[in-house]
Amino acid sequence: MCGIVGYIGYNDSKEILLKGLEKLEYRGYDSAGIAVINNDGVRIFKEKGRIADLREAVDNNVEANTGIGHTRWATHGVPSKTNSHPHQSDSARFTLVHNGVIENYDLLKREYLQKVTLKSETDTEVIVQLVELFVNDGLTVEEAFRKTLTLLHGSYALALIDEQDKETIYVAKNKSPLLVGLGFGFNVVASDAMAMLQVTDKYVELMDKEMVLVKKDEVTIQNLNGDVINREPYTAELDASDIEKGTYPHYMLKEIDEQPAVMRKIIQNYQNDSGELQIDQDILSAMNDSDRIYIIAAGTSYHAGLVGKQFLERMAQIPVEVHISSEFGYNMPLLSKKPLFIFISQSGETADSRQVLVQIKEMGHKSLTITNVQGSTLSREADYTLLLHAGPEIAVASTKAYTAQLAVLAILAEVTAKSRDIEVPFSLVQELGIVANAMEVLRDSKEEFEAIAREYLSVTRNCFFIGRGIDFYVGLEGALKLKEISYIQAEGFAGGELKHGTIALIEEGTPVIALATQKFVNLSIRGNVKEVVARGANPCIISMDGLNTDEDRFVIPEVHELLTPLISVVPMQLISYYAALHRDCDVDKPRNLAKSVTVE
Ligand code: F6R
Repeated sequence: MCGIVGYIGYNDSKEILLKGLEKLEYRGYDSAGIAVINNDGVRIFKEKGRIADLREAVDNNVEANTGIGHTRWATHGVPSKTNSHPHQSDSARFTLVHNGVIENYDLLKREYLQKVTLKSETDTEVIVQLVELFVNDGLTVEEAFRKTLTLLHGSYALALIDEQDKETIYVAKNKSPLLVGLGFGFNVVASDAMAMLQVTDKYVELMDKEMVLVKKDEVTIQNLNGDVINREPYTAELDASDIEKGTYPHYMLKEIDEQPAVMRKIIQNYQNDSGELQIDQDILSAMNDSDRIYIIAAGTSYHAGLVGKQFLERMAQIPVEVHISSEFGYNMPLLSKKPLFIFISQSGETADSRQVLVQIKEMGHKSLTITNVQGSTLSREADYTLLLHAGPEIAVASTKAYTAQLAVLAILAEVTAKSRDIEVPFSLVQELGIVANAMEVLRDSKEEFEAIAREYLSVTRNCFFIGRGIDFYVGLEGALKLKEISYIQAEGFAGGELKHGTIALIEEGTPVIALATQKFVNLSIRGNVKEVVARGANPCIISMDGLNTDEDRFVIPEVHELLTPLISVVPMQLISYYAALHRDCDVDKPRNLAKSVTVE
Protein backbone atom coordinates (compact mmCIF):
# COMPACT_ATOMS: atom_id res chain seq x y z
CA MET A 1 0.00 0.00 0.00
CA CYS A 2 1.91 2.95 -1.33
CA GLY A 3 5.59 2.84 -2.13
CA ILE A 4 8.22 5.46 -1.48
CA VAL A 5 11.69 6.13 -2.88
CA GLY A 6 14.42 8.69 -2.38
CA TYR A 7 17.81 9.44 -3.95
CA ILE A 8 20.64 11.73 -2.93
CA GLY A 9 23.96 11.74 -4.78
CA TYR A 10 25.77 13.08 -7.82
CA ASN A 11 23.51 11.86 -10.61
CA ASP A 12 20.26 13.29 -11.82
CA SER A 13 17.64 11.79 -9.53
CA LYS A 14 14.54 11.87 -11.79
CA GLU A 15 15.13 8.69 -13.77
CA ILE A 16 16.31 6.76 -10.69
CA LEU A 17 13.16 7.78 -8.83
CA LEU A 18 10.86 6.96 -11.75
CA LYS A 19 12.46 3.57 -12.33
CA GLY A 20 12.21 2.87 -8.60
CA LEU A 21 8.54 3.80 -8.58
CA GLU A 22 7.90 1.51 -11.55
CA LYS A 23 9.25 -1.36 -9.46
CA LEU A 24 7.04 -0.33 -6.55
CA GLU A 25 3.90 0.10 -8.61
CA TYR A 26 2.63 -3.24 -7.25
CA ARG A 27 2.19 -1.42 -3.90
CA GLY A 28 -0.39 1.00 -5.29
CA TYR A 29 -1.19 2.63 -8.58
CA ASP A 30 -3.87 5.27 -8.07
CA SER A 31 -1.52 8.20 -8.51
CA ALA A 32 2.16 9.01 -8.29
CA GLY A 33 4.57 11.87 -7.86
CA ILE A 34 8.16 12.96 -7.38
CA ALA A 35 9.78 16.04 -5.86
CA VAL A 36 13.32 17.03 -6.75
CA ILE A 37 15.49 19.78 -5.31
CA ASN A 38 18.30 21.81 -6.91
CA ASN A 39 19.66 25.35 -6.63
CA ASP A 40 16.40 26.72 -8.05
CA GLY A 41 14.37 25.10 -5.26
CA VAL A 42 11.92 22.20 -5.18
CA ARG A 43 9.99 21.04 -8.25
CA ILE A 44 7.05 18.70 -7.86
CA PHE A 45 5.55 16.55 -10.59
CA LYS A 46 2.48 14.47 -9.81
CA GLU A 47 -0.38 12.83 -11.67
CA LYS A 48 -3.46 10.76 -11.03
CA GLY A 49 -2.92 7.36 -12.66
CA ARG A 50 0.10 5.21 -13.30
CA ILE A 51 3.84 5.90 -13.27
CA ALA A 52 3.63 6.04 -17.07
CA ASP A 53 1.34 9.08 -16.70
CA LEU A 54 3.76 10.65 -14.23
CA ARG A 55 6.62 10.13 -16.68
CA GLU A 56 4.76 12.19 -19.25
CA ALA A 57 4.30 14.99 -16.73
CA VAL A 58 7.96 15.23 -15.69
CA ASP A 59 9.96 18.11 -17.20
CA ASN A 60 13.13 16.48 -18.49
CA ASN A 61 14.98 19.80 -18.49
CA VAL A 62 14.98 19.93 -14.70
CA GLU A 63 18.16 18.40 -13.28
CA ALA A 64 18.47 17.65 -9.57
CA ASN A 65 20.68 15.37 -7.49
CA THR A 66 18.21 14.93 -4.64
CA GLY A 67 14.62 13.75 -4.81
CA ILE A 68 11.81 11.70 -3.29
CA GLY A 69 8.91 9.84 -4.91
CA HIS A 70 5.66 8.04 -4.15
CA THR A 71 3.15 5.69 -5.73
CA ARG A 72 -0.23 5.71 -4.00
CA TRP A 73 -2.99 3.34 -2.94
CA ALA A 74 -5.60 5.73 -1.58
CA THR A 75 -6.71 5.43 2.05
CA HIS A 76 -7.71 8.98 3.06
CA GLY A 77 -9.02 11.01 0.13
CA VAL A 78 -9.96 9.90 -3.38
CA PRO A 79 -7.25 9.22 -5.95
CA SER A 80 -6.59 12.67 -7.45
CA LYS A 81 -3.72 14.96 -8.33
CA THR A 82 -4.37 17.03 -5.19
CA ASN A 83 -4.34 14.04 -2.87
CA SER A 84 -1.32 12.45 -4.52
CA HIS A 85 2.08 12.77 -2.89
CA PRO A 86 4.46 14.59 -2.40
CA HIS A 87 2.68 17.02 -0.09
CA GLN A 88 4.05 20.39 0.91
CA SER A 89 3.93 22.60 3.98
CA ASP A 90 2.17 25.95 3.87
CA SER A 91 5.22 27.95 2.79
CA ALA A 92 6.32 25.11 0.47
CA ARG A 93 9.61 24.86 2.38
CA PHE A 94 9.08 21.18 3.31
CA THR A 95 8.03 18.38 0.97
CA LEU A 96 7.03 14.89 2.10
CA VAL A 97 6.07 11.42 0.89
CA HIS A 98 4.36 8.94 3.21
CA ASN A 99 3.29 5.31 3.22
CA GLY A 100 0.95 4.34 6.05
CA VAL A 101 -1.98 5.72 7.99
CA ILE A 102 -1.83 8.44 10.64
CA GLU A 103 -4.67 7.48 12.95
CA ASN A 104 -4.69 10.69 15.01
CA TYR A 105 -4.39 13.12 12.10
CA ASP A 106 -7.73 14.76 12.88
CA LEU A 107 -6.76 15.34 16.48
CA LEU A 108 -3.37 16.75 15.46
CA LYS A 109 -5.08 19.05 12.99
CA ARG A 110 -7.40 20.39 15.67
CA GLU A 111 -4.70 20.67 18.31
CA TYR A 112 -1.85 22.20 16.30
CA LEU A 113 -2.95 23.29 12.86
CA GLN A 114 -6.07 25.38 13.30
CA LYS A 115 -4.48 28.34 11.54
CA VAL A 116 -3.32 26.27 8.58
CA THR A 117 -5.57 25.58 5.59
CA LEU A 118 -4.85 22.05 4.48
CA LYS A 119 -4.80 21.60 0.73
CA SER A 120 -5.54 17.88 0.52
CA GLU A 121 -7.91 15.39 2.17
CA THR A 122 -5.01 13.16 3.22
CA ASP A 123 -3.77 12.19 6.66
CA THR A 124 -0.23 12.79 5.38
CA GLU A 125 -0.40 16.54 5.03
CA VAL A 126 -0.55 17.12 8.80
CA ILE A 127 2.96 15.63 9.13
CA VAL A 128 4.61 18.11 6.81
CA GLN A 129 2.62 21.00 8.28
CA LEU A 130 3.69 20.03 11.80
CA VAL A 131 7.36 20.01 10.81
CA GLU A 132 7.02 23.54 9.46
CA LEU A 133 5.07 24.68 12.52
CA PHE A 134 7.78 23.45 14.89
CA VAL A 135 10.57 24.95 12.76
CA ASN A 136 8.70 28.26 12.85
CA ASP A 137 8.57 27.87 16.64
CA GLY A 138 12.39 27.82 16.67
CA LEU A 139 13.37 24.15 16.45
CA THR A 140 15.99 22.91 14.00
CA VAL A 141 14.61 20.77 11.17
CA GLU A 142 15.98 17.64 12.81
CA GLU A 143 14.34 18.54 16.13
CA ALA A 144 11.07 19.47 14.44
CA PHE A 145 11.02 16.20 12.50
CA ARG A 146 11.70 14.22 15.68
CA LYS A 147 9.04 16.11 17.64
CA THR A 148 6.52 15.46 14.88
CA LEU A 149 7.30 11.74 14.91
CA THR A 150 6.67 11.52 18.64
CA LEU A 151 3.15 12.89 18.07
CA LEU A 152 2.14 10.45 15.33
CA HIS A 153 -0.06 7.44 16.05
CA GLY A 154 -0.27 4.87 13.32
CA SER A 155 1.98 3.60 10.60
CA TYR A 156 4.43 5.53 8.51
CA ALA A 157 7.40 5.30 6.21
CA LEU A 158 8.42 8.90 5.50
CA ALA A 159 10.88 10.84 3.39
CA LEU A 160 11.07 14.62 3.77
CA ILE A 161 13.15 17.26 2.03
CA ASP A 162 13.82 20.85 3.02
CA GLU A 163 14.09 23.52 0.33
CA GLN A 164 16.86 25.20 2.32
CA ASP A 165 19.05 22.08 2.48
CA LYS A 166 19.43 19.95 -0.61
CA GLU A 167 22.02 17.79 1.12
CA THR A 168 19.68 15.84 3.42
CA ILE A 169 16.67 13.53 3.17
CA TYR A 170 14.91 13.06 6.51
CA VAL A 171 13.55 9.55 6.80
CA ALA A 172 11.52 7.68 9.43
CA LYS A 173 9.66 4.43 9.88
CA ASN A 174 7.00 2.91 12.07
CA LYS A 175 5.13 -0.27 11.07
CA SER A 176 5.45 0.44 7.31
CA PRO A 177 8.47 -1.08 5.56
CA LEU A 178 11.47 1.09 4.68
CA LEU A 179 15.10 0.50 3.79
CA VAL A 180 18.09 2.74 3.21
CA GLY A 181 20.30 1.62 0.32
CA LEU A 182 24.01 2.44 0.32
CA GLY A 183 26.12 3.42 -2.69
CA PHE A 184 29.46 5.06 -3.42
CA GLY A 185 28.78 8.76 -3.35
CA PHE A 186 25.04 8.32 -3.17
CA ASN A 187 22.40 6.80 -0.92
CA VAL A 188 18.81 5.81 -1.54
CA VAL A 189 15.59 5.13 0.31
CA ALA A 190 12.96 2.58 -0.71
CA SER A 191 9.95 0.67 0.58
CA ASP A 192 11.42 -2.46 -0.96
CA ALA A 193 14.96 -3.35 -2.11
CA MET A 194 13.57 -4.25 -5.55
CA ALA A 195 13.02 -0.58 -6.27
CA MET A 196 16.66 0.40 -6.03
CA LEU A 197 18.36 -2.78 -7.17
CA GLN A 198 19.21 -0.79 -10.30
CA VAL A 199 21.75 1.22 -8.27
CA THR A 200 22.71 -0.84 -5.20
CA ASP A 201 22.34 -4.21 -3.49
CA LYS A 202 23.56 -3.02 -0.06
CA TYR A 203 20.78 -2.12 2.36
CA VAL A 204 20.31 -1.15 5.97
CA GLU A 205 17.11 -2.29 7.62
CA LEU A 206 15.24 0.27 9.70
CA MET A 207 13.32 -0.58 12.84
CA ASP A 208 10.11 0.98 14.07
CA LYS A 209 10.39 4.43 15.62
CA GLU A 210 13.75 5.17 14.06
CA MET A 211 14.64 8.25 12.06
CA VAL A 212 17.51 8.62 9.64
CA LEU A 213 19.41 11.54 8.17
CA VAL A 214 20.40 10.44 4.69
CA LYS A 215 23.17 12.40 2.96
CA LYS A 216 25.06 11.45 -0.16
CA ASP A 217 28.01 10.02 1.75
CA GLU A 218 26.59 9.48 5.21
CA VAL A 219 23.63 7.75 6.81
CA THR A 220 22.83 8.42 10.49
CA ILE A 221 20.21 6.27 12.18
CA GLN A 222 18.77 7.52 15.47
CA ASN A 223 16.03 6.53 17.84
CA LEU A 224 13.46 9.10 18.83
CA ASN A 225 15.61 10.17 21.80
CA GLY A 226 18.33 11.19 19.37
CA ASP A 227 20.70 8.29 20.28
CA VAL A 228 22.73 7.18 17.28
CA ILE A 229 22.32 3.52 16.28
CA ASN A 230 24.94 1.54 14.38
CA ARG A 231 23.68 -1.19 12.10
CA GLU A 232 25.51 -3.33 9.58
CA PRO A 233 24.19 -3.37 6.01
CA TYR A 234 23.17 -6.60 4.30
CA THR A 235 23.31 -7.65 0.66
CA ALA A 236 19.92 -8.08 -1.00
CA GLU A 237 19.94 -11.50 -2.60
CA LEU A 238 17.81 -10.52 -5.52
CA ASP A 239 18.66 -10.96 -9.12
CA ALA A 240 17.61 -8.08 -11.37
CA SER A 241 16.13 -10.69 -13.77
CA ASP A 242 13.81 -11.90 -10.96
CA ILE A 243 12.00 -8.62 -11.11
CA GLU A 244 11.79 -8.22 -14.89
CA LYS A 245 8.96 -9.55 -17.01
CA GLY A 246 11.36 -10.72 -19.71
CA THR A 247 9.43 -11.90 -22.75
CA TYR A 248 6.20 -12.45 -20.80
CA PRO A 249 3.25 -10.13 -21.43
CA HIS A 250 2.40 -10.13 -17.71
CA TYR A 251 4.10 -10.89 -14.42
CA MET A 252 1.18 -13.14 -13.49
CA LEU A 253 1.84 -15.48 -16.41
CA LYS A 254 5.57 -15.48 -15.68
CA GLU A 255 4.93 -16.30 -12.04
CA ILE A 256 2.49 -19.12 -12.91
CA ASP A 257 5.14 -20.58 -15.19
CA GLU A 258 7.81 -20.32 -12.50
CA GLN A 259 5.95 -22.72 -10.20
CA PRO A 260 7.77 -25.95 -11.17
CA ALA A 261 11.13 -24.22 -10.62
CA VAL A 262 9.92 -22.86 -7.28
CA MET A 263 8.96 -26.39 -6.18
CA ARG A 264 12.45 -27.62 -6.99
CA LYS A 265 14.06 -24.65 -5.23
CA ILE A 266 12.01 -25.33 -2.11
CA ILE A 267 13.02 -28.99 -2.06
CA GLN A 268 16.66 -27.93 -2.46
CA ASN A 269 16.47 -25.36 0.33
CA TYR A 270 14.81 -27.69 2.81
CA GLN A 271 16.92 -30.78 2.07
CA ASN A 272 19.94 -31.75 4.15
CA ASP A 273 23.11 -33.38 2.80
CA SER A 274 21.56 -36.82 3.00
CA GLY A 275 18.60 -35.72 0.93
CA GLU A 276 16.13 -35.62 3.81
CA LEU A 277 13.79 -32.74 4.42
CA GLN A 278 14.70 -30.74 7.49
CA ILE A 279 13.39 -27.85 9.56
CA ASP A 280 15.20 -25.86 12.20
CA GLN A 281 15.23 -27.75 15.51
CA ASP A 282 13.79 -24.77 17.44
CA ILE A 283 10.77 -24.72 15.13
CA LEU A 284 10.26 -28.46 15.57
CA SER A 285 10.44 -28.06 19.35
CA ALA A 286 7.85 -25.28 19.19
CA MET A 287 5.61 -27.49 17.03
CA ASN A 288 5.98 -30.44 19.39
CA ASP A 289 5.49 -28.33 22.51
CA SER A 290 2.18 -26.98 21.26
CA ASP A 291 -1.18 -28.65 21.78
CA ARG A 292 -2.92 -26.66 19.00
CA ILE A 293 -1.80 -24.59 16.06
CA TYR A 294 -3.54 -21.37 15.07
CA ILE A 295 -2.95 -20.35 11.47
CA ILE A 296 -3.50 -16.64 10.86
CA ALA A 297 -3.61 -15.23 7.32
CA ALA A 298 -5.55 -13.20 4.76
CA GLY A 299 -6.80 -13.77 1.21
CA THR A 300 -4.87 -16.32 -0.78
CA SER A 301 -2.59 -17.03 2.18
CA TYR A 302 -5.70 -17.86 4.22
CA HIS A 303 -6.71 -20.33 1.53
CA ALA A 304 -3.25 -21.88 1.75
CA GLY A 305 -3.79 -22.12 5.51
CA LEU A 306 -7.00 -24.12 5.00
CA VAL A 307 -5.08 -26.70 2.99
CA GLY A 308 -2.14 -26.51 5.42
CA LYS A 309 -4.49 -27.52 8.24
CA GLN A 310 -5.19 -30.76 6.37
CA PHE A 311 -1.45 -31.41 5.93
CA LEU A 312 -0.64 -30.74 9.57
CA GLU A 313 -3.56 -32.66 11.02
CA ARG A 314 -3.27 -35.65 8.70
CA MET A 315 0.52 -35.95 8.74
CA ALA A 316 1.66 -34.54 12.09
CA GLN A 317 -1.60 -35.15 13.97
CA ILE A 318 -1.66 -31.75 15.67
CA PRO A 319 -5.06 -29.99 15.84
CA VAL A 320 -5.13 -26.82 13.76
CA GLU A 321 -7.50 -23.85 13.54
CA VAL A 322 -7.34 -21.41 10.63
CA HIS A 323 -8.39 -17.80 11.13
CA ILE A 324 -8.78 -14.74 8.90
CA SER A 325 -6.40 -12.23 10.45
CA SER A 326 -8.71 -9.20 10.23
CA GLU A 327 -11.36 -11.06 12.26
CA PHE A 328 -9.17 -12.70 14.86
CA GLY A 329 -8.84 -9.69 17.19
CA TYR A 330 -12.54 -9.46 18.00
CA ASN A 331 -13.49 -13.08 17.34
CA MET A 332 -10.68 -14.61 19.31
CA PRO A 333 -11.40 -18.27 20.05
CA LEU A 334 -10.87 -19.78 23.44
CA LEU A 335 -7.16 -20.59 23.14
CA SER A 336 -5.68 -23.95 24.11
CA LYS A 337 -3.11 -24.20 26.92
CA LYS A 338 -0.07 -24.30 24.64
CA PRO A 339 -0.91 -22.59 21.37
CA LEU A 340 1.56 -21.99 18.54
CA PHE A 341 0.65 -19.28 16.03
CA ILE A 342 1.62 -19.68 12.38
CA PHE A 343 1.39 -16.54 10.26
CA ILE A 344 1.24 -17.18 6.52
CA SER A 345 2.02 -14.10 4.46
CA GLN A 346 3.66 -13.74 1.06
CA SER A 347 4.73 -10.17 1.75
CA GLY A 348 5.27 -10.51 5.49
CA GLU A 349 3.79 -7.03 5.79
CA THR A 350 0.02 -7.57 5.98
CA ALA A 351 -1.15 -5.21 8.70
CA ASP A 352 -4.16 -7.35 9.69
CA SER A 353 -1.86 -10.27 10.43
CA ARG A 354 0.71 -8.12 12.17
CA GLN A 355 -1.97 -6.78 14.49
CA VAL A 356 -2.65 -10.37 15.61
CA LEU A 357 1.06 -11.03 16.03
CA VAL A 358 1.41 -8.02 18.33
CA GLN A 359 -1.64 -9.16 20.30
CA ILE A 360 -0.52 -12.78 20.81
CA LYS A 361 3.04 -11.72 21.64
CA GLU A 362 1.65 -9.57 24.43
CA MET A 363 -0.14 -12.69 25.66
CA GLY A 364 3.22 -14.49 25.70
CA HIS A 365 2.56 -16.98 22.89
CA LYS A 366 5.10 -18.30 20.39
CA SER A 367 4.91 -17.57 16.68
CA LEU A 368 6.23 -18.78 13.35
CA THR A 369 5.98 -16.77 10.12
CA ILE A 370 5.91 -18.46 6.72
CA THR A 371 6.80 -15.76 4.24
CA ASN A 372 8.44 -15.00 0.92
CA VAL A 373 10.26 -11.93 2.20
CA GLN A 374 13.24 -12.32 4.46
CA GLY A 375 13.48 -9.47 6.94
CA SER A 376 9.83 -8.49 6.47
CA THR A 377 7.94 -7.20 9.50
CA LEU A 378 6.17 -10.47 10.29
CA SER A 379 9.40 -12.37 9.89
CA ARG A 380 11.36 -10.03 12.14
CA GLU A 381 8.74 -9.93 14.83
CA ALA A 382 7.83 -13.62 15.04
CA ASP A 383 9.97 -16.07 17.00
CA TYR A 384 10.71 -18.20 13.93
CA THR A 385 10.57 -17.92 10.14
CA LEU A 386 10.27 -20.36 7.28
CA LEU A 387 10.98 -18.87 3.87
CA LEU A 388 9.07 -19.67 0.68
CA HIS A 389 12.03 -19.22 -1.70
CA ALA A 390 9.56 -18.32 -4.46
CA GLY A 391 11.44 -15.23 -5.68
CA PRO A 392 9.71 -11.84 -5.86
CA GLU A 393 5.99 -12.07 -6.62
CA ILE A 394 5.05 -8.89 -8.43
CA ALA A 395 1.62 -9.50 -9.99
CA VAL A 396 -1.03 -8.44 -7.51
CA ALA A 397 -2.80 -11.81 -7.84
CA SER A 398 -0.82 -14.34 -5.88
CA THR A 399 0.06 -17.57 -7.70
CA LYS A 400 3.53 -19.01 -7.08
CA ALA A 401 3.47 -17.86 -3.44
CA TYR A 402 0.31 -19.94 -2.86
CA THR A 403 1.84 -23.16 -4.19
CA ALA A 404 5.10 -22.37 -2.35
CA GLN A 405 3.12 -21.88 0.88
CA LEU A 406 1.50 -25.29 0.36
CA ALA A 407 4.86 -26.94 -0.30
CA VAL A 408 6.47 -25.40 2.81
CA LEU A 409 3.44 -26.33 4.95
CA ALA A 410 3.67 -29.90 3.65
CA ILE A 411 7.37 -30.00 4.53
CA LEU A 412 6.65 -28.63 7.99
CA ALA A 413 3.95 -31.29 8.46
CA GLU A 414 6.15 -34.13 7.23
CA VAL A 415 9.22 -33.20 9.27
CA THR A 416 7.11 -32.65 12.39
CA ALA A 417 5.42 -36.02 11.87
CA LYS A 418 8.77 -37.77 11.62
CA SER A 419 10.03 -36.02 14.75
CA ARG A 420 6.98 -37.44 16.55
CA ASP A 421 7.63 -40.93 15.16
CA ILE A 422 4.49 -40.76 13.06
CA GLU A 423 4.89 -42.60 9.82
CA VAL A 424 4.22 -40.64 6.63
CA PRO A 425 3.23 -43.22 4.01
CA PHE A 426 4.99 -41.49 1.11
CA SER A 427 8.24 -39.69 0.35
CA LEU A 428 7.43 -36.00 0.25
CA VAL A 429 10.61 -35.16 -1.69
CA GLN A 430 9.58 -37.61 -4.36
CA GLU A 431 5.95 -36.45 -4.38
CA LEU A 432 6.94 -32.78 -4.66
CA GLY A 433 9.15 -33.76 -7.60
CA ILE A 434 6.08 -35.37 -9.22
CA VAL A 435 4.14 -32.17 -8.47
CA ALA A 436 6.80 -30.08 -10.24
CA ASN A 437 6.61 -32.34 -13.31
CA ALA A 438 2.80 -32.18 -13.31
CA MET A 439 2.97 -28.38 -13.12
CA GLU A 440 5.09 -28.46 -16.26
CA VAL A 441 2.41 -30.45 -18.08
CA LEU A 442 -0.18 -27.83 -17.11
CA ARG A 443 2.17 -25.04 -18.13
CA ASP A 444 2.25 -26.57 -21.60
CA SER A 445 -1.55 -26.79 -21.78
CA LYS A 446 -2.25 -23.08 -21.83
CA GLU A 447 -4.29 -23.22 -25.03
CA GLU A 448 -6.81 -25.47 -23.33
CA PHE A 449 -7.24 -23.04 -20.44
CA GLU A 450 -7.53 -20.12 -22.80
CA ALA A 451 -10.29 -22.03 -24.63
CA ILE A 452 -12.10 -22.79 -21.35
CA ALA A 453 -11.92 -19.12 -20.35
CA ARG A 454 -13.26 -18.05 -23.74
CA GLU A 455 -16.07 -20.57 -23.76
CA TYR A 456 -17.28 -20.19 -20.19
CA LEU A 457 -16.25 -16.74 -19.02
CA SER A 458 -16.19 -14.29 -21.94
CA VAL A 459 -19.63 -12.85 -21.31
CA THR A 460 -20.87 -14.28 -18.03
CA ARG A 461 -21.55 -12.06 -15.03
CA ASN A 462 -20.91 -14.82 -12.48
CA CYS A 463 -19.22 -18.18 -12.00
CA PHE A 464 -19.27 -20.83 -9.29
CA PHE A 465 -16.50 -23.13 -8.13
CA ILE A 466 -17.49 -26.32 -6.36
CA GLY A 467 -15.53 -29.08 -4.70
CA ARG A 468 -15.59 -31.40 -1.72
CA GLY A 469 -12.92 -31.98 0.88
CA ILE A 470 -9.62 -30.38 -0.04
CA ASP A 471 -11.04 -29.44 -3.48
CA PHE A 472 -13.44 -27.04 -1.78
CA TYR A 473 -10.48 -24.96 -0.53
CA VAL A 474 -8.97 -24.84 -4.01
CA GLY A 475 -12.37 -23.69 -5.29
CA LEU A 476 -12.25 -20.79 -2.84
CA GLU A 477 -8.85 -19.81 -4.22
CA GLY A 478 -10.06 -20.24 -7.82
CA ALA A 479 -12.99 -17.91 -7.13
CA LEU A 480 -10.75 -15.29 -5.51
CA LYS A 481 -8.33 -15.40 -8.46
CA LEU A 482 -11.14 -15.00 -10.97
CA LYS A 483 -12.95 -12.17 -9.21
CA GLU A 484 -9.89 -10.10 -8.36
CA ILE A 485 -8.51 -9.93 -11.87
CA SER A 486 -11.53 -10.35 -14.17
CA TYR A 487 -14.19 -8.68 -11.93
CA ILE A 488 -16.56 -11.59 -12.56
CA GLN A 489 -18.67 -12.30 -9.48
CA ALA A 490 -17.25 -15.67 -8.44
CA GLU A 491 -17.81 -17.82 -5.36
CA GLY A 492 -16.45 -21.12 -4.13
CA PHE A 493 -18.83 -23.57 -2.47
CA ALA A 494 -18.65 -26.95 -0.81
CA GLY A 495 -20.48 -29.28 -3.20
CA GLY A 496 -22.82 -30.59 -0.50
CA GLU A 497 -23.76 -27.09 0.62
CA LEU A 498 -25.31 -26.02 -2.70
CA LYS A 499 -28.70 -27.49 -1.89
CA HIS A 500 -28.84 -25.42 1.29
CA GLY A 501 -29.33 -22.17 -0.58
CA THR A 502 -26.80 -21.40 -3.28
CA ILE A 503 -28.38 -23.57 -5.93
CA ALA A 504 -31.11 -20.90 -6.18
CA LEU A 505 -28.55 -18.76 -8.04
CA ILE A 506 -28.09 -21.25 -10.86
CA GLU A 507 -29.64 -20.06 -14.11
CA GLU A 508 -29.51 -21.14 -17.73
CA GLY A 509 -25.84 -21.07 -18.73
CA THR A 510 -24.29 -20.27 -15.31
CA PRO A 511 -20.69 -21.54 -15.44
CA VAL A 512 -19.89 -24.01 -12.65
CA ILE A 513 -16.28 -25.15 -12.40
CA ALA A 514 -16.18 -28.42 -10.47
CA LEU A 515 -13.02 -29.97 -9.05
CA ALA A 516 -12.87 -33.75 -8.81
CA THR A 517 -9.46 -34.83 -7.53
CA GLN A 518 -10.47 -36.76 -4.42
CA LYS A 519 -11.38 -40.42 -4.79
CA PHE A 520 -13.58 -40.68 -1.70
CA VAL A 521 -15.90 -37.85 -2.86
CA ASN A 522 -15.64 -38.37 -6.61
CA LEU A 523 -19.16 -39.74 -6.94
CA SER A 524 -20.70 -37.13 -4.65
CA ILE A 525 -19.17 -34.13 -6.44
CA ARG A 526 -20.32 -35.56 -9.76
CA GLY A 527 -23.78 -35.87 -8.21
CA ASN A 528 -23.62 -32.15 -7.37
CA VAL A 529 -22.67 -31.39 -10.97
CA LYS A 530 -25.79 -33.28 -12.13
CA GLU A 531 -27.93 -31.19 -9.75
CA VAL A 532 -26.69 -27.90 -11.19
CA VAL A 533 -26.88 -29.16 -14.77
CA ALA A 534 -30.53 -30.09 -14.17
CA ARG A 535 -31.08 -26.38 -13.37
CA GLY A 536 -29.37 -25.11 -16.50
CA ALA A 537 -25.72 -24.72 -15.42
CA ASN A 538 -22.83 -24.97 -17.86
CA PRO A 539 -20.43 -27.36 -16.08
CA CYS A 540 -16.67 -27.52 -16.47
CA ILE A 541 -15.28 -30.51 -14.61
CA ILE A 542 -11.57 -30.57 -13.86
CA SER A 543 -10.61 -33.99 -12.56
CA MET A 544 -7.48 -35.92 -11.76
CA ASP A 545 -6.16 -38.69 -13.94
CA GLY A 546 -7.58 -41.98 -12.71
CA LEU A 547 -10.80 -40.41 -11.48
CA ASN A 548 -11.86 -38.92 -14.82
CA THR A 549 -14.91 -39.65 -16.95
CA ASP A 550 -15.89 -38.70 -20.50
CA GLU A 551 -17.79 -35.63 -19.33
CA ASP A 552 -14.64 -33.94 -17.93
CA ARG A 553 -13.27 -30.84 -19.57
CA PHE A 554 -9.68 -31.16 -18.36
CA VAL A 555 -7.77 -33.92 -16.61
CA ILE A 556 -4.79 -33.00 -14.45
CA PRO A 557 -1.88 -35.44 -14.08
CA GLU A 558 -2.03 -37.73 -11.09
CA VAL A 559 -0.23 -36.65 -7.93
CA HIS A 560 -0.62 -37.80 -4.33
CA GLU A 561 -4.21 -37.18 -3.24
CA LEU A 562 -3.18 -34.94 -0.35
CA LEU A 563 -1.05 -32.76 -2.61
CA THR A 564 -3.61 -32.18 -5.38
CA PRO A 565 -4.17 -28.51 -4.39
CA LEU A 566 -0.64 -27.77 -5.62
CA ILE A 567 -1.73 -28.91 -9.07
CA SER A 568 -5.45 -28.28 -9.30
CA VAL A 569 -4.94 -24.60 -8.51
CA VAL A 570 -2.87 -24.10 -11.69
CA PRO A 571 -5.89 -24.46 -14.04
CA MET A 572 -7.73 -22.00 -11.75
CA GLN A 573 -4.88 -19.50 -12.11
CA LEU A 574 -4.64 -19.89 -15.88
CA ILE A 575 -8.38 -19.81 -16.51
CA SER A 576 -8.60 -16.61 -14.43
CA TYR A 577 -5.65 -15.12 -16.29
CA TYR A 578 -7.21 -15.72 -19.70
CA ALA A 579 -10.67 -14.62 -18.54
CA ALA A 580 -9.17 -11.30 -17.43
CA LEU A 581 -7.26 -10.99 -20.68
CA HIS A 582 -10.35 -11.67 -22.80
CA ARG A 583 -12.19 -8.99 -20.87
CA ASP A 584 -9.41 -6.45 -21.38
CA CYS A 585 -8.66 -6.18 -17.68
CA ASP A 586 -5.32 -5.04 -16.31
CA VAL A 587 -4.11 -8.48 -15.22
CA ASP A 588 -1.12 -7.45 -13.12
CA LYS A 589 -2.71 -4.40 -11.54
CA PRO A 590 -6.41 -5.03 -10.97
CA ARG A 591 -8.55 -2.07 -9.96
CA ASN A 592 -8.74 -1.00 -6.32
CA LEU A 593 -6.06 -3.45 -5.17
CA ALA A 594 -2.43 -3.36 -4.10
CA LYS A 595 0.04 -6.14 -3.48
CA SER A 596 1.14 -5.44 0.03
CA VAL A 597 -1.74 -4.52 2.32
CA THR A 598 -0.15 -2.48 5.07
CA VAL A 599 -3.35 -0.90 6.41
CA GLU A 600 -5.83 -2.61 8.73
C1 F6R B 1 -4.86 -12.50 -3.78
C2 F6R B 1 -3.84 -11.96 -2.90
C3 F6R B 1 -4.26 -11.50 -1.55
C4 F6R B 1 -3.17 -11.79 -0.53
C5 F6R B 1 -3.53 -11.15 0.84
C6 F6R B 1 -2.52 -11.48 1.89
O1 F6R B 1 -4.32 -12.91 -4.98
O2 F6R B 1 -2.70 -11.84 -3.25
O3 F6R B 1 -5.47 -12.05 -1.17
O4 F6R B 1 -3.03 -13.17 -0.39
O5 F6R B 1 -3.63 -9.77 0.68
O6 F6R B 1 -1.26 -11.03 1.53
P1 F6R B 1 0.05 -11.64 2.19
O7 F6R B 1 0.13 -13.06 1.79
O8 F6R B 1 1.16 -10.81 1.65
O9 F6R B 1 -0.12 -11.50 3.67
